[in-house]
Parts: sequence; structure tokens; C-alpha cells
Amino acid sequence: MISSIGGRGDGVGTADGQTVYVPGTVPGDRALIRIEGRRADGLVGSVIELSDPGPARCPPACPHFGVCGGCSLQHLEDGAYADWKSGQLVTAFRRAGFAPDLVAPMVRVAPGSRRRASFAFLRRRNGVLFGFNARASHHLVDIDVCPLLAPPLLTLAAPIRELLAATVEEGIAGDVLVTLTDNGLDILVEAEARLDLFDRERLAAFAGVHDLARLSWRRPGGRMSGGGMSGGGSSGGAMIEPLAHRRPAVVRFADIPVEPPPGAFLQPSPEGEQALVSLVTGAVGAGDGLVADLFAGCGSFSFPLARLSAVHAVEGDAAALAALKAASDRAGARVSAECRDLGHRPLLGPELKKYRAVVFDPPRAGAAPQAEQLAGAGPQRVVAVSCNPATLARDARILAGGGYRLLRATPVDQFPWSAHLEAVAVFER
Ligand SMILES: C[S@@+](CC[C@H](N)C(=O)[O-])C[C@H]1O[C@@H](n2cnc3c(N)ncnc32)[C@H](O)[C@@H]1O
Repeated sequence: MISSIGGRGDGVGTADGQTVYVPGTVPGDRALIRIEGRRADGLVGSVIELSDPGPARCPPACPHFGVCGGCSLQHLEDGAYADWKSGQLVTAFRRAGFAPDLVAPMVRVAPGSRRRASFAFLRRRNGVLFGFNARASHHLVDIDVCPLLAPPLLTLAAPIRELLAATVEEGIAGDVLVTLTDNGLDILVEAEARLDLFDRERLAAFAGVHDLARLSWRRPGGRMSGGGMSGGGSSGGAMIEPLAHRRPAVVRFADIPVEPPPGAFLQPSPEGEQALVSLVTGAVGAGDGLVADLFAGCGSFSFPLARLSAVHAVEGDAAALAALKAASDRAGARVSAECRDLGHRPLLGPELKKYRAVVFDPPRAGAAPQAEQLAGAGPQRVVAVSCNPATLARDARILAGGGYRLLRATPVDQFPWSAHLEAVAVFER
């Protein structure tokens, strides 16, 4: 029998004294299982026959659920799902030595609001597969519906298949990053293809017919465009070729228009971003003195924070930072900008003394080097934003070692039905 849900969203049971992870099951399920392999701390099984469904089972919202790898928990009743999801943060913080009651109720973001999606594609002999990877596999699930996405993201699925069929050779695989901006769709195709003049004309015509804001192409093997860095960001070390730029692909942070470079990081939905912004600005509060926004991206937090205080934004991706700086200069916002690799060159003690508060929002690996510097010489208030409860809890431990007290950690479910969880943690000393 399945007794719980594990960290990756799989049902967990035991067989012959060993832990078995079974994707697609829920607590209370009784099922005949085939053992498929090993995972670090147990076995992985698949369901041969579900003999007795558990009480928390419910019908999934999407016809692709179970095959598509995008979601792992649509078959779990909503209350049980929410308990499991917020429990991920409670567990991570408890393991790091923090009291579970410091975790606030989870803020939820409704499905159907995602403004960006990275679709995978494969050019086959007789057409193009376009969708998401299947569960734990590189096979592609061809999709036309996804209840997680804002509807405009999928309206062009059929024409994109036709475009790619006409443009790339059989056997080529790639990605199509589609972002819904305030001025329409911004599309970045990432694939190894040598575009000739006819291809470029076809791509530009596609942008016109479908009224895209912008269409760009990145060849992963192409040369570096300069200034990019690994660990997230827009250039990814490869050259981005603009094919059509019909209008600025603009998003607004605190009403300030910013034009992110193709492929730059954005929070996945405006609703999720707003929830994070409220938690961050609420924790920092208004006041004299400078606030540091580290891993600032294109300024999702910098511009709302600039309504409260002057802000210094630090980011490693040169193109994202250039977009932030250009927006700040145009709007006369009180945001200064610095391009810096915070993994290798975190803000050090003497620099940290300039700030009344520090916000940091690193990629999944977290920000241990920066947390160590903050532990030594950080300001009274520190706010950590993270999409990985395990590294957030580790960084929180580092801060606690330097005398910071965790005031609260708020889970924000901006990746519904998946095992991913965002959170904002507030520290003081
Ligand atoms: C989770 S995103 C957050 C961005 C921004 N705070 C937002 O909410 O839109 C993490 C950001 O860290 C940047 N980044 C990744 N590694 C970095 C590093 N070593 N130094 C500085 N910035 C880095 C990425 O380019 C990305 O913009």
C-alpha cells in the first residue's frame, strides 16, 4: 500500500522492507507494482494494476497527465496536494533545525496563468513533434492543450509545427521558448540549424502573420555573443540571432517597462511574481538607506523595491542587467546596476555595510558563498527568495550560524501540480 508522497511527487510504499517510489500513485492506493530500477535510497516501481484506489485520488485536469512529464500530481485531491506541497518547505526547514511553525500558510497561484513555457520539438520525417518531454524520458509528448499555461502560449502550436517542418532538417531536436509579454508573444527557437535567406524570410513572415512582438533564433553550438554566463540567463553561451523585432517585447515591473533579452529569466506567471513581490517588499519595508537586490535578473524585485528605497541590483547575466539598466535610465528609477558573478565574487563584508537590507534570489543551487558573507557582515534584514527548499534551508542555516533569526518562510506554489516550490524567507538580527 502507498503510505505517503515523496519529495519528487511519487507515491511511497514499502516492499520486502525497502522503500519503493511509484509515480502516479497516492496515499491509500493498493496496487500491483513492477520494480523498474533503483533510486539512491530505494527502488522505483510502476503500476501494473491499481486494485484499490486511495481516498485522495481525483481525476486529472489534463488529458496528457501521466504521460507528459510536466506535472506529477494532478491525480491528488486539492487539499491533500496543498498539504503535501507546503510540507516540502516544512520538512526542509525542520531538517535544517528550524521550528515548523515558522512556515507560513502557502500562497497559491492558479493554473492557467503561466506566461512562459519552454516547449521541446523534434523534426521527424513526416512532421514535427511539439510539446513536453515524457516522464523521466527524452521522448516527446505532442501537446495542444496544457491547463497550466495562459491560453495564448499554445495558440500557435500548429503553425509553429509547420514553420519548423519547413525550416529544420529531419532528426533535428530543439526548444521553443514562448513568452507572453505586454506587447504580444516573444518566441526564441533554440536549435542547431543553418538558416539561409529563404529560412530567414519565412521566419520573419511568420512573425508578421502571427503578429509576434519578437522572434529570435539561438544555435546552441554557435559562438558566444559576449557577456553571458552559465547558471541561467539569456545568452547561455550561444549566439542569439534576431529574426523579427516588430515591437518591444515589454514586461512591466512596478509599472516600469523593461524589455528582457530573448530567453532571459522571468518569474513564470505575473500572479506568482506579484505574490513574491508583496512578500519581499513587505519584509524590506520603506526606509532611508540602500537595499541590495542580488541575482536581480531584469528587475522583478528591483523596481518594486525602488518605490521604498534606493536599490543596487547585482546580476551575472550581462544582457539581463543591460535591460534592467536601460529601463532604470529611461524611467529615472533609483536603481543602480552591477554585473557580477556572485558565485565566485559574492558581496564582501565592507560592501555589505552599505545596505540596510539585502534581498537574494539565486538559481536552484542556492547562494552559499553569498550567505556566508552575509552571515559575517550582513545588514539587519535579509530576505531570501528561492525555487529550491533544500538549498534555501541550507542557506538559512548559514545565516543562522551568523546570528540571524528566521522570522518566517512563506511557500508560494507558482508551479502547481509539480514537485517544484518557490518560497520567501525573512531573516533579522
Ligand atoms: C531565479 S532568477 C531570479 C531573477 C530575478 N530576481 C527575478 O525574480 O526575476 C536567478 C538569477 O540569477 C542569475 N544568476 C545565476 N547565476 C548567477 C551568478 N553566479 N551570479 C550572479 N547572478 C547569477 C540568473 O541570470 C538569474 O537572473
